[in-house]
Amino acid sequence: MRTHYCGDINASHNGQEIAVTGWVHRRRDHGGVIFIDLRDREGLLQVVCDPDTPELFAEAERIRGEFVLAIKGKVRPRPEGTVNPNMPTGEVEVLATDLGILNVAETPPFHHDEHPSEDLRLQYRYLDLRREEMTERIRLRHAVTRSMRSFLDDNGFLDIETPILTRATPEGARDYVVPSRTQQGSFFALPQSPQLFKQLLMMSGMDRYYQIARCFRDEDLRADRQPEFTQLDIEMSFVGEDEIMSLMELLIRHVFSESISAELPADFPRMSWGEAMRRFGTDRPDLRIPLELVDVADLMDGVEFKVFAGPAADPEGRVAALALPGGAELSRKEIDDYTDFVGRYGARGLAYIKVTDPAKGNEGMQSPILKFLPDATIKGLAERLELAAGDIVFFGADKANVVCDALGALRVKLGEDRGLVEGGWSPLWVVDFPLFEFDPQEKRWNALHHPFTAPDSTDADALRAAPGEAGSRAYDMVLNGTEIGGGSIRIHDAAMQSAVFDVLGIDEAEAENKFGFLLKALKYGCPPHGGIAFGLDRLVMLMAGANSIRDVIAFPKTQSASCLLTDAPGPISSQQLREAGIRLRKTDKS
Ligand code: AMO
Ligand code: AMP
Repeated sequence: MRTHYCGDINASHNGQEIAVTGWVHRRRDHGGVIFIDLRDREGLLQVVCDPDTPELFAEAERIRGEFVLAIKGKVRPRPEGTVNPNMPTGEVEVLATDLGILNVAETPPFHHDEHPSEDLRLQYRYLDLRREEMTERIRLRHAVTRSMRSFLDDNGFLDIETPILTRATPEGARDYVVPSRTQQGSFFALPQSPQLFKQLLMMSGMDRYYQIARCFRDEDLRADRQPEFTQLDIEMSFVGEDEIMSLMELLIRHVFSESISAELPADFPRMSWGEAMRRFGTDRPDLRIPLELVDVADLMDGVEFKVFAGPAADPEGRVAALALPGGAELSRKEIDDYTDFVGRYGARGLAYIKVTDPAKGNEGMQSPILKFLPDATIKGLAERLELAAGDIVFFGADKANVVCDALGALRVKLGEDRGLVEGGWSPLWVVDFPLFEFDPQEKRWNALHHPFTAPDSTDADALRAAPGEAGSRAYDMVLNGTEIGGGSIRIHDAAMQSAVFDVLGIDEAEAENKFGFLLKALKYGCPPHGGIAFGLDRLVMLMAGANSIRDVIAFPKTQSASCLLTDAPGPISSQQLREAGIRLRKTDKS
């Protein structure tokens, strides 16, 4: 039907007869001559319809935006003064000799240069994807997966598919479940990740596996979380963490270089989880922001101010300060807004001190809490935080996790609001995670990553005796404050796997029921192995400079996990319910 893409035509085609197809991007009637910007995936091309060809001209008068056309014609230079340097095809135009309307279009609900609401975009996603910005993001995603595949192929990885209808895989979210018709009352779970299958593939001797795998997690959604998302999933045998991490650095550097010509630093820094929490309040620190949390509990010894003294004396508490240079100019209203902001992370307040002259001690500071703090405390703060005139210091005092969450988020917010985020790419590895975290409400231990992560010691009894002490052989890759990947060396020993299940409160019967197949497989010759999974959507979001992973997924779901295009999820027929052996409970609504 065509000889060229619209966007590929340039001065080298002058004089050639070409055939192009595409959508009417714009139609302009210029007193007797009609100009059509014809658009296809590769770009726009100006088509000229001359009244000298009356039949063709009559057709051209009929066309409207988004009609689908087939055009034949001759490429010619644009007349002097009409060259458009902003368009790749801006030096040329096509004089149409033949115009066919392949499809008519109703007036679309939004035009390419409008900014419709996200709901409207998702409802008409096929129109939204016609916008150049979106086409470019989809193309970038393709470039990224292509570069991943080529790197992994060059390094001896096999691309192997794993089941979608499977058993629960514990990655910490709720499962999506699918009823079985043939075994009524039984359900498949959709995989939260291919974790167990990739481990089984190592036990099969596949040695190096990868898959661009769809994962399903029923969890609270955010800008960087979808119920259905894609991982670049990787597993390797006979390796330790250093081999995996250095190969993965090469992979990510290759992907950035191939797909967006960006050069990432040669060696990604490594930071322990403890240091990340202490200095940045998060396990995914954005190192481009030059602000840090500083512990000050020891300076609150004997201070009467209960807000600080309580958490300072609590072994699970934390009192930390975050100094913002130049922040003394913040207004009361701005500080109130930041107080509301940290409130969302559980903080019960946001004490602050403004610094006018640090040399003057108490006199050189301004704050409603000054009267509660002895001179020695103020002096200690000024020294430790290296306070200068014009600074503001914010404080968080609470359980350590609340202080980390609140001040960690405030650090990023201040960085963005005050224009402190440096440009460029800042990757790092976060390592030395604890193996378990204690849930005080449920009074039980949870795996910080997943239950197949190897502890940093091989002593199963010590692990049972003091789970809180156990470190893990896990590593997360963080880029500009986003966790883009996480993985670990796995347990490859049935006794250690049982010990971990014990700590997690999974008894033998439950372990056998849920993971019996894995425990059995561990007994038939399991190589030491480990791997990682990258969040493809997050990676592409960062590379595209988008704010949400929804913008780099062709057909994403909303925050409430529904698809506005197809209206999924939807009801099923009573026959389908019967076949699945399901009777719906009456809810308040029905
Ligand atoms: P994890 O659960 O850390 O590890 O997931 C790996 C990476 O996947 C991305 N990710 C998500 N992206 C979008 N929406 C979501 N809901 C979502 N959840 C996770 C993140 C994350 O770093 N099986 C292990 C990997 C392993 O140990 O090899 C796993 O799934 O970028
Ligand atoms: P109050 O004594 O509650 O009036 O608090 C005095 C100051 O301490 C106010 O600026 C509060 O915002 C702040 N504040 C209260 N609780 C906390 C907390 N847990 N962490 C940090 N600041 C707090």
